[in-house]
Amino acid sequence: MSQAIIRLGPRHRKLLYAGFFLLWTSGVLWLVFHYFLRIEGDFGPEAHPLEPWWLRLHGLMAMAALVLGGSLAPNHMRLAWNRRKNMRSGVPMLALTIWLAASGYALYYFSTDDNAAWLPLLHWIAGLALPVILAMHIRIGRRRAPRTAKRAHQPPQLHVVAQPHPRKQACS
Ligand code: HEM
Ligand code: HEM
Repeated sequence: MSQAIIRLGPRHRKLLYAGFFLLWTSGVLWLVFHYFLRIEGDFGPEAHPLEPWWLRLHGLMAMAALVLGGSLAPNHMRLAWNRRKNMRSGVPMLALTIWLAASGYALYYFSTDDNAAWLPLLHWIAGLALPVILAMHIRIGRRRAPRTAKRAHQPPQLHVVAQPHPRKQACS
């Protein structure tokens, strides 16, 4: 059985980075297309045909991000929480994820013409900050991690040179 450790395995880490990257990028692309790349239609400016696709990708990645975030709960977050490690950047990271999930839910089910001016802002301004908060969390966490944890995922040494037996060495 694999040992429970705070540091993520290389595959787990790559999946998490890829998921959060696509989540953030799809949100930003939607913003760019919605606010800056409208096209001229027969009845005036209208949405670019790619605009709805960025939101479709975003919704998909939002679900994946919640699964990926949840996958950190049993080892990464639980152990770090119990050992009081990296709480100062871990708690904001967790709070931001919960905020994005809650405001995303509100956007999907409760958006109306009345709240259109402020509800999306509550979601995407926080969303834009995600990479900065995540990068700070990783940097601070790694800097404070003990040396043994930093070595935990180094590949095993494959070519170990056997040392000659001390008695054989004396004979030769
Ligand atoms: C959604 C929330 C979170 C995400 C996405 C996240 C993500 C990450 C990532 C990607 C790393 C770098 C790991 C590596 O290099 O292998 C990291 C490091 C770390 N995180 Fe989190 N984290 C979250 C929440 C938390 C919480 C709530 C805590 C504390 C209670 C925490 C404590 C730590 C610690 C101690 C490290 C350093 C681990 C080490 O290098 O040994 N994290 N986090
Ligand atoms: C855990 C993280 C996140 C979740 C669960 C989430 C979820 C959602 C959901 C459910 C919607 C509504 C989709 C619809 O109306 O069809 C949405 C919209 C949106 N999200 Fe996210 N999101 C997250 C992170 C982010 C991030 C990091 C950004 C980066 C900028 C972002 C930017 C946006 C934008 C621009 C919209 C469209 C706003 C509008 O309709 O006016 N989201 N999100």
